[in-house]
Parts: sequence; C-alpha cells; structure tokens
Amino acid sequence: MAMMTFKIHRFNPDDERRGRYVQEYQVDVRKGMTILDCLNEIKWKQDGTLTFRRSCRSGICGSCAMWVNGMNRLACETQAATLGSNRIEIRPMPGYPVVKDLAVSLDPLVRGLMAVKPWLIANGPPPTDQERLQSPEEREKLLGLYECILCGACTSSCPSFWADGDYIGPHAFLKAYRFVADSRDDGAKAHLDACDDKHGLWRCHTIFNCVEACPKDLNPTKAISELKKELVRRKIG
Ligand code: SF4
Ligand code: FES
Repeated sequence: MAMMTFKIHRFNPDDERRGRYVQEYQVDVRKGMTILDCLNEIKWKQDGTLTFRRSCRSGICGSCAMWVNGMNRLACETQAATLGSNRIEIRPMPGYPVVKDLAVSLDPLVRGLMAVKPWLIANGPPPTDQERLQSPEEREKLLGLYECILCGACTSSCPSFWADGDYIGPHAFLKAYRFVADSRDDGAKAHLDACDDKHGLWRCHTIFNCVEACPKDLNPTKAISELKKELVRRKIG
C-alpha cells in the first residue's frame, strides 16, 4: 500500500462562478490498482460529486480516456504504481469541451468520424448464400486499422485539432483508411473525397502525437500518409 495524492481538475457547469479548479484527494493505493480503481475509490468513499466516464473496465469501450500525468491514457488500463510518482494529476482530455470534471463532449470526435463515411460502401447487393468474403491476404491488410476503440486520445493530443476544432482528426482518418484498404469496399472515392477537405488530412503535420497517445498502439499517422499517397495517385493518374 502507498498513500498517493490525486490532483484532479474539476469543473461544474452549474457553478460558473467557481470556474475550473484543482482538488486534491489521498488514496491508499494497493498493488495492481488502476487509475480508474482510484477514481472509483474517491467517488464511492470520499466525494460522490466527482464525475468521469467509464464502462467496460477492460480497455475496450474507450470511455475512460483522460489526461494523466502528462499524457492521454485509458484510466482502466493504467496502473497507478507504474507512473513512477506518488502525485498523480488528472485532467479532462485537451481540446474537447468539458462537460463536467473529467467528462468531455465527444461531439467533435463523432463529427470528424461521420464526415469520412465510416461504413462499408458496396456497389452490389450482399450475396444471399454467404457473407462478403475476403482472402486471408486481403484480411491481413486491415490489421492495425480495425482495432480502434474510438477513445479520442489521438485527436485530443493533436496540435492541428487544437488549432482547428473542425479538423477531421486522426481517429477518423484511421477509420477512413480502414475502409479504403478493405477489398470489399467500393467507396474509396467517397472516403478520400471527404478526407480531402480544408479541415482534412492536409492539415496533418506528421507530428506523431497521435501515435504516442494511442492506447491500442495504432498508427493514425501512417494511415494519413497512405490516404495522402492514394489521393495524389488518383489526382495525377
Ligand atoms: S486511433 Fe487509438 S487513440 Fe485514436 S481513437 Fe482509436 S484507439 Fe483511441
Ligand atoms: S472503461 Fe472502457 S476503455 Fe476504460
């Protein structure tokens, strides 16, 4: 057990006069406790007003992304003891409007995602006797593209998004490329046209923050460069 101090950034829209402030809590952290366990301990035993999002507790739903000691992380996957400090600062993810305490509005995330038409666009009707099939080689091309849990950590850490709130965002470009690379999809033009926008992928400056932030070890920067290459190929070809 180690006593740790949690400095948590707070905001209550019903108390505008107070604005944003930092509140400290002490938690006896046992071996293996995650940041989410610590937040639950605070909420359940010390301060029921503390607000944050969580659901699956196993790194699948993407709900619990937040800024912890300098980086966007999934609270349910980050063990407090691994952070190397007894003082842990937690803020809402940067760039998104704060709803309350650590909960942010994910409207910009959804807006960017929907812009790129994140679904399979197929010309023909589905076969009636089987699913739309792929060869193992075609399926392999989707590795590293389909695993995104839409936590928003990548887009929140991106300076292009900080400068332009309408920037479509690395999460959406990864999803767009997931369909452009899919052998069953006939909608590459629609996905690419959507990315080729004034708030689109040309605003990416290849800073790699998104790669560093992704808790699933995905590489949105690579997807962006593949989309750029594909767009250029189509324009000059
Ligand atoms: S690419 Fe990674 S960081 Fe971005 S939304 Fe998907 S899982 Fe989260
Ligand atoms: S609670 Fe679902 S990813 Fe953390």
